[in-house]
Amino acid sequence: MATSISFDQHHPRGSWRRFEALQDAPLIEIATLESAQQRQAGLLAGLLQPAAAIDPKFFYDAQGCALYGAICQLQEYYPTRTEAAIFERYRDQIAAQLPGRCLWVDLGCGDGAKSWPWLETVDAAGYMGVDIAQDWLAHTLQVGAERFPAIAFSGVVTDFSQTLLLQPVLSGWLEQPPVLFYPGSSIGNFAPAQALALLRAMRQHLGPHGRLLIGVDALKDEATLRAAYDDALGVTAAFNRNVLRVVNRELGCHFEPTDFSHRAHFNAKASRIEMRLVARRPVTVQLAGTMRHFAKGDAIVTEHCYKFTPERFETLLTVAGFGEIQRWSDDRGHYSVFVAATGRAQT
Ligand code: AVJ
Repeated sequence: MATSISFDQHHPRGSWRRFEALQDAPLIEIATLESAQQRQAGLLAGLLQPAAAIDPKFFYDAQGCALYGAICQLQEYYPTRTEAAIFERYRDQIAAQLPGRCLWVDLGCGDGAKSWPWLETVDAAGYMGVDIAQDWLAHTLQVGAERFPAIAFSGVVTDFSQTLLLQPVLSGWLEQPPVLFYPGSSIGNFAPAQALALLRAMRQHLGPHGRLLIGVDALKDEATLRAAYDDALGVTAAFNRNVLRVVNRELGCHFEPTDFSHRAHFNAKASRIEMRLVARRPVTVQLAGTMRHFAKGDAIVTEHCYKFTPERFETLLTVAGFGEIQRWSDDRGHYSVFVAATGRAQT
């Protein structure tokens, strides 16, 4: 099956164009909310700050995705497997809380594998994959459309960590309430204010019958958390260092990944794991005409992974305007899955 891909490279923030799909081919709508120049400017600004930082979205080139896949299989990295077990065990119960004939909106769909087992259980009418990586999305839609011929497949390429604005594409699905599927505890990458803003934006997409289905990693003992982000085989270290190769490609600069070591620190006060790349020796890199110096021991922050007690996350959902909140957890309380609807007082 051919895939029709529509490009819309230069539209203003928030505006959309629709494209004709090839008959029987999944339609991919490209919404470029951030141009390549904006993306690179943001990356550069982060690296030139006194406290250098790289947005975790830059982890996920093809190599980074493969390394993340390997992380998910590590003994120490419990979130993926714990979430999968909750989904397996409670799938029917959870599905009973979701609308039938829904539009399944897979936020950060990747290869779509987490969604496939749901589509028949919930009797989805449509699947909409949303991801920042266009090549993967095209492949994912093709795989899904072949496996589920009765379901309408479409996709959107966008960086919803900046702006979640899917109303224009959802307007073609007025009869089918959306289920926003946001698994993997990706919400943990956002600072509290940003997480709240993203949850609010999600809530505004729901309408009266739509639901959010979200997976959230729990706060737990420090040893378990640290091991999950600093595994014995060094896979997370490779994943972290790989971001420097992505940076080299994006900015045409010359970081040497082996000049930096991987650190995962648990900040109890902020309830988050902090991933850094720490210079092992003095490093100077030319970044767009500026010489950026890192002394030995200087760090680049690459990721924050916030951990929530179930109560705290439920409060966050409530503040974001959600209601009818339900939760399923594993027996150890390491991970939770929430379903939420638009709260009563909200529009
Ligand atoms: C994809 C953001 C959920 O925070 O656990 C895994 C990314 N980073 N190991 C996480 C990650 C290092 C992951 N999320």
